[in-house]
Amino acid sequence: MRKTVSVTPSARRLTNSLRDIGYSFESAIADLVDNSIAAGGSHIKIQIVFSGENSYVMISDNGDGMSPEDLNEAFRFGSQRTYQTGELGRYGLGLKTASLSQCRRLTVFTRDKRTGTRSANCLDLDFINETDNWLVTEPETDDRSKTVLDRLSPHGTVVLWDNLDRLLPSNNPSSPWAKRKFETLGSRLGTHLSTVFHRFLSGEGVSPIIISINGVDLKPWDPFVRAEPKTELVTTDKFELDTRNSSGQVVVKSYCLPSRSQFTSQEAFDAAAGIRKWNRQQGLYIYRANRLVQWGGWDSIRTLDEHTKLARVSLDFNTDLDDEFNINVAKMRVTLPSSLKKLMSRSIGDVCARADSRYRKDKNSRGSEQQASLDTATAPEGYAPGAEVGLALKSAAARSGNFSAFKKIAELLKQEDPKLAKLLGL
Ligand SMILES: Nc1ncnc2c1ncn2[C@@H]1O[C@H](COP(=O)(O)OP(=O)(O)O)[C@@H](O)[C@H]1O
Ligand SMILES: [Mg+2]
Repeated sequence: MRKTVSVTPSARRLTNSLRDIGYSFESAIADLVDNSIAAGGSHIKIQIVFSGENSYVMISDNGDGMSPEDLNEAFRFGSQRTYQTGELGRYGLGLKTASLSQCRRLTVFTRDKRTGTRSANCLDLDFINETDNWLVTEPETDDRSKTVLDRLSPHGTVVLWDNLDRLLPSNNPSSPWAKRKFETLGSRLGTHLSTVFHRFLSGEGVSPIIISINGVDLKPWDPFVRAEPKTELVTTDKFELDTRNSSGQVVVKSYCLPSRSQFTSQEAFDAAAGIRKWNRQQGLYIYRANRLVQWGGWDSIRTLDEHTKLARVSLDFNTDLDDEFNINVAKMRVTLPSSLKKLMSRSIGDVCARADSRYRKDKNSRGSEQQASLDTATAPEGYAPGAEVGLALKSAAARSGNFSAFKKIAELLKQEDPKLAKLLGL
């Protein structure tokens, strides 16, 4: 037998570097919500509480909970377990890496549905740094721990983050600035979770769940605004992808959203813009087991274009295709198989053509509406907004050394559109 040498990783160095594998605050919480859903939780409460250096974030669910042995296993980086198709977990890392990306101390309290047993564990970065060992400890028996554990009824799990070094400034965690910054976390998180879990919140194809942040229930945000009468389902395709050992289905649906004037209200139009706003929200919405993992942009199939901003396409795959889609640990990114990109390109072309025509029609009709309102406007005496524009143009032309060109343009306009030229005061 060949000689072997054990090269156990350094707990201190590895846990510290795993803090930076790409989670944001929102995506870290979303990964914990995945765990709660996977455990059968239907009510997930998130509390974000500012209290200077004692600030904390807590995620509670009413899922199945864990036995003390399962809880120990859950704290292992790369925890061992098998997954059913459709389960949201994957690498056995999220609980630890998502949490430590935001805090220095992770405590989990749980009550097992099968036996009613309560247990709790704590992973403290400072303790790992001190011991350079993969050790979890019992949590401190302070009042808060006791209350949390007592309240776990009849079963469920509570994840507590404290020592929030990534969310609070280290020099003055109690300052009003720290408080203001901390308080923006809740609204950003709400928008993110309403997007990522919209199908779970509305019960579309899955059992409905409730997610609340500091007592306020989240509403689902539907990227395809299907409640709007003018949203159009343009194409539906089902593709079978072969994996090394089996095959799996991908469902692609393309939607053309209503143009601005087709929305039932300005508020509905503004809300449909989404986190990154209209232009960057066009493109693919990729769902893994009904949970949105990546959205916006066309993933090199085409580029973002103002004219196609009304086109949004959902793509659904199940966890049996995880390897094909190469999902990353933070569950924020996938790589589309190139064979699939080819299969989808026709439908994407169709929906983009539809979106382009809707957009242009809307723009033209609004252009002529504006013109009409300028024509009919009864401006107060002496107020000529068009003349102001004309003056600004004239002055800019002079300053940029193009006054003679401007004069020629003005002459042409006078001949071709005397009404407009007059409006501009030329
Ligand atoms: N809220 C929870 N309720 C019940 N079990 C949980 C919960 N969170 C985590 N677990 C258990 O801990 C394990 C490890 O979680 P995690 O590190 O996120 O990896 P993964 O979700 O990929 O399995 C899970 O597989 C699950 O068994
Ligand atoms: Mg997980």
